[in-house]
Amino acid sequence: MDIAGKRILLTGATGGLGRALAVRLADRDVELVLVGRKRAALDEQLGALPAGNHQSVLADIASVDGRRAVVDAVGGSLDGLINCAGVNTFGLFADQCADDLERLLRVNVIAAVELIRDLLPVLGQRKSLVVNVGSTFGTIGYPGYTAYCASKFALRGFTEALARELADSSVRVCYFAPRAIRTPMNDANIEAMNAELGNTMDTPERVADSLVKFLEQGRARRHVGWPERLFVTLNALLPGIVDGALAKNLPVIQRHCRGDGASSLSPPG
Ligand SMILES: NC(=O)c1ccc[n+]([C@@H]2O[C@H](COP(=O)([O-])OP(=O)(O)OC[C@H]3O[C@@H](n4cnc5c(N)ncnc54)[C@H](OP(=O)(O)O)[C@@H]3O)[C@@H](O)[C@H]2O)c1
Repeated sequence: MDIAGKRILLTGATGGLGRALAVRLADRDVELVLVGRKRAALDEQLGALPAGNHQSVLADIASVDGRRAVVDAVGGSLDGLINCAGVNTFGLFADQCADDLERLLRVNVIAAVELIRDLLPVLGQRKSLVVNVGSTFGTIGYPGYTAYCASKFALRGFTEALARELADSSVRVCYFAPRAIRTPMNDANIEAMNAELGNTMDTPERVADSLVKFLEQGRARRHVGWPERLFVTLNALLPGIVDGALAKNLPVIQRHCRGDGASSLSPPG
């Protein structure tokens, strides 16, 4: 898809990936509708973009009122929706509270799905694109990320089903799955765990470049990174091998879930 001149709605626009993505898209002459919950952060983000006919919407997309505000702001024309907002609750499942789990599912699944449905009448009026930002953990169940995995597995399944349901329409529905990214979503415990396990963490700028390329190539799905792509295939074909590999890493993951291992990242003294 040639994205120049297109009007695209981006949720999570004030987050680590969203900020980098907004800049990359604006550089390509995309007209942006940025969604976030913090006025100051949205204003700062708008100010950082190259000139263009951009706008922002202050909205908590986990709420019905927030999503209504987004739809009202969009009005009658939209070429694309990128569902990038997301939250995570890293930790052992037994330690998680009901409120956190509900918030996570509300933001990562319900908000994304409902926004698509609310905007379909507008998106359906022309050739358009929906991109749901998933995760490697939307395909590989990983200890410490149980609820997050549940949400991203759900988002991936929804995306695949809707893409097939709309295959004969003008709306293309895609799934983009990054591996770990250095953003505020990942606290010191996650950074320490990834460092100890040798898990690569991409910069948001690199992932944003990859997402823009994905949009332009018009592909249906993409998993970012190697060896993550290999593990995705291995997990589908021979999950016992991945069970075994993760069982070996389990003591390290458990320690970081409890917050016992982040001190190695602290500055000396
Ligand atoms: N970071 C990673 O390692 C990683 C890896 C794979 C996939 N992903 C996915 O990439 C996407 C972007 O994540 P990120 O790393 O950029 O995270 P981030 O820096 O924590 O940003 C998350 C964004 O989501 C927004 N958001 C959260 N709850 C919201 C709500 N109720 N209403 C409106 N906006 C809300 C946040 O807005 P506020 O500023 O108002 O909180 C923020 O802009 C997510 O879907 C995430 O699951 C991330």
